[in-house]
Amino acid sequence: MGLWARARGRFNAWGLAALDGYLHRKFAARKQRLLHDLPPVAVELGSGSGTNFRYLPRGLRLVAVEPNVQAHGLLKRRAERYGLVLELHAEFAEHLALPSDSVEFVFCSLVLCSVRDPSAVIAEVRRVLKPGGRFVCLEHVAAEPHSRLARWQRLVRRPWHWAFDGCDVCRDTGALLRAGGFSRVDVTPFTLQTFAWPIRPIIEAVCVK
Ligand SMILES: C[S@@+](CC[C@H](N)C(=O)[O-])C[C@H]1O[C@@H](n2cnc3c(N)ncnc32)[C@H](O)[C@@H]1O
Repeated sequence: MGLWARARGRFNAWGLAALDGYLHRKFAARKQRLLHDLPPVAVELGSGSGTNFRYLPRGLRLVAVEPNVQAHGLLKRRAERYGLVLELHAEFAEHLALPSDSVEFVFCSLVLCSVRDPSAVIAEVRRVLKPGGRFVCLEHVAAEPHSRLARWQRLVRRPWHWAFDGCDVCRDTGALLRAGGFSRVDVTPFTLQTFAWPIRPIIEAVCVK
């Protein structure tokens, strides 16, 4: 890995760790509700700094798929702190190193905005889930078409993408999930009260294979 990629990876891991308390204040109640009643093994895509580990039951075996290897040290320390049995994967979620029909629960937060190919990731999630298995996510999305916020999102899209590690503020992730071939998809939109207005429109989604 080149010097620039390593420095950028470190900076991104540090940035996510710095946002940890803020994300907890904004999302704790929803995440606690979405991450309840888990099977003994779960998969998290794009764990970042491990901000979601605090909501998981102690003793859970967590497969954390995080391509930024500069964040792995932090993830290991946090998993230990929250009593998780961690299996770290450095691959991109577009190609998961997991067998088909092998897991009951996959989740992510603020990740489908950042992956290169969200449809490929959704297809991979569906592949690895057992029939009846759940995919839960919390994602910021494109604003209502033709709204003033949608126009602003289009305006900041490119600099935002550069500044925030490939994050796209104009993704219609709800539509991608609905097209993902799940047997059930429940999408609940809400507005996040945040100074970071391009990411105010959020969805929480529960998809069942
Ligand atoms: C905005 S951060 C969110 C981190 C964490 N989930 C949270 O809620 O704070 C996006 C994360 O997705 C990871 N990521 C980016 N592309 C990915 C991909 N193709 N597959 C899996 N993870 C990816 C990044 O390394 C980063 O950790």
